[in-house]
Amino acid sequence: MSVSYMTHPLIRHKITLLRKEDTSTNEFRKLVEEIAMLMGYEALSDLETQDITVKTPIEESVQPVISGKKLAVVPILRAGLGMVNGILALVPSARVGHIGLYRDPKTHEPHEYYCKLPDPIDQRQIVVVDPMLATGGSAIAAVDFIKKHGGQKIKFMSIIAAPEGVDALMKAHPDIQLYVGCLDRELNENAYICPGLGDAGDRIFGTK
Ligand code: URA
Repeated sequence: MSVSYMTHPLIRHKITLLRKEDTSTNEFRKLVEEIAMLMGYEALSDLETQDITVKTPIEESVQPVISGKKLAVVPILRAGLGMVNGILALVPSARVGHIGLYRDPKTHEPHEYYCKLPDPIDQRQIVVVDPMLATGGSAIAAVDFIKKHGGQKIKFMSIIAAPEGVDALMKAHPDIQLYVGCLDRELNENAYICPGLGDAGDRIFGTK
């Protein structure tokens, strides 16, 4: 597996704003979407193209367009939903699957409660999105599930990751490509990322 850490100043700037505890729900949502779009631009830089002939007002010309199978964006519910529109802004024709996992508050183990993927999934480029890669438990479970359904070309995008989550995901799924907006210091005893940004789902949806 390869891990790419984002270095673009715009991404780093927007992640800093996201972290601030006084960032409003509205701003937070917009920032998550913008960061997902900027990260998506990087993560999709290897999309295959094919040449087509177009007629410009001047002449016929052979030019590239995105080729191949449609992209599938798969948010891990619920916080991953906040990143979907950022990717769809880049690839409006992408299909959207959903994976619902919740963390047991005591054991922090992921439990699946909803899953629906585009069919067929085997030839698609899949981009799994979850803003926070903490223990890696949900990420590993989501990728396990996608592979069980035939998914093969999998990228995983997280805005903030803990070293523990990156290591766990790399070990469990060495064949996927991981894109991380910012690598933070560590997890605390409640499995929150430090310094992190708190609970991404609550901040996107304004719940507590
Ligand atoms: N999920 C979150 O929303 N925040 C964390 O810090 C860890 C997991």
